[in-house]
Amino acid sequence: MADLSASDFGPEFRWGAATAAYQIEGAVAEDGRGASIWDTFSHTPGKVRGGDNGDVACDHYHRYREDLRLAYEMGMWVYRFSLAWPRILPEGRGRPNPKGLDFYHRVIDRTLELGLEPWVTLYHWDLPQALEDQGGWTNREVVGWFSDYAALCARAFGDRVRNWMVLNEPFVFTTLGYMLGTHAPGRKGLGHYLPAIHHAALAQAEGGHVLRQMLPGAQIGTTFSASYVQPLNPWPWNRGAAARMDALVNRLFLEPALGLGYPWRTLPFLHLMRRHIRPGDLERLGFEFDFIGLQTYFRMIVGFSLTDFGNFAREVPHAKRARLNPTPWSGTLTAMGWEVWPENLYRLLKQFGAYPGVKKIVVTENGAAFPDTVREGRVADPERLRFIQESLGYVLKAQREGVPVKGYLVWSLLDNFEWAEGYHPRFGLVYVDYPQQQRILKDSGRWFARFLTRGSV
Ligand code: NOJ
Repeated sequence: MADLSASDFGPEFRWGAATAAYQIEGAVAEDGRGASIWDTFSHTPGKVRGGDNGDVACDHYHRYREDLRLAYEMGMWVYRFSLAWPRILPEGRGRPNPKGLDFYHRVIDRTLELGLEPWVTLYHWDLPQALEDQGGWTNREVVGWFSDYAALCARAFGDRVRNWMVLNEPFVFTTLGYMLGTHAPGRKGLGHYLPAIHHAALAQAEGGHVLRQMLPGAQIGTTFSASYVQPLNPWPWNRGAAARMDALVNRLFLEPALGLGYPWRTLPFLHLMRRHIRPGDLERLGFEFDFIGLQTYFRMIVGFSLTDFGNFAREVPHAKRARLNPTPWSGTLTAMGWEVWPENLYRLLKQFGAYPGVKKIVVTENGAAFPDTVREGRVADPERLRFIQESLGYVLKAQREGVPVKGYLVWSLLDNFEWAEGYHPRFGLVYVDYPQQQRILKDSGRWFARFLTRGSV
């Protein structure tokens, strides 16, 4: 792995890092930004570890110029970030906020000025609170609200942004936000979950259509969370549970997007979703995405599946902090409590690459959190470095075996607000000293810079 070079991946391979608006921007009450569900949720006592919130975060709203410079200095080609819907449309719809649009004009211009490609995610979980007050993802009207927002963004930024991602990890924001209640808006139960799934799946395809219509030359993708699922042992009962978990975590949103429909047969509880489905809907779930964003952090070893029980909702509290991940392992864990097993990425690239409808895969997020510390101005993070190097080795292996994987973006450029876990887990290639808002390139970032500049010559 040590002699891996960026040029091994081919001249067109895209390298970079990713962030998301609520996790880095701060400035939540500035320049007319409206509230998002994450403002409300993080200010509700007990919801986020340590009582943390995104009010200041990395103060990227004021520091984007220097933050982008760090990406440039590492030799990256791509900077992936998200647009905050409530910064652009404070009420979620209606009148746009010129200052919010201006901010993203500045970010995009700065990205281009540094020779980086801006890759834009339309929705990375910060739904305007005003829309949640009207039901959020459980209200079918969200599909129309979202496509109007997508059209506005395409109109504003489409002249300079070529690469778009419609949604970030629909499985995660619907499951944690509307089923388990551990993420914003904190709703629980199938009554919320099932409509949220269907409306997010519709919005994903609809967003793709809007972008395609308005920006015929754009590269349009969407991103999926994934975990390679293995049965705990080869017994049929365990294999069945693993198949159901796989359908839930890996197929639920991918397959409808590819025009294959929901995985009903493996997950019979999805039939309960039928009351939210209108004639013609199932045909509207597919879209010819130019690329699929694969995002993964850990595998799952499954002995039982939450969906094995008649009442998914009632079983969930028992899974509690296991985050749908009842994996019994003994290896190294990250600061998120996730097993370190980089081969996970290889298995998923093979799994996703096997769908005939998947033309191109970009790893739009991959990385690991460890408890970093600063010593004499330096952050030594050998575990993260090893995780990234090994993951890249597996990307190359998959590519050599024919998987059309065309890019790798590290999560994340900077340490940032890790949702319900607050600021404690650090995922960045760049360390953020929050009280001073100082940035320090970690050893992993230094390595990445050497790796990229050597490979691009
Ligand atoms: C996926 C999410 O898209 C991102 O927001 C999050 O910080 C990382 N995973 C790490 O959990």
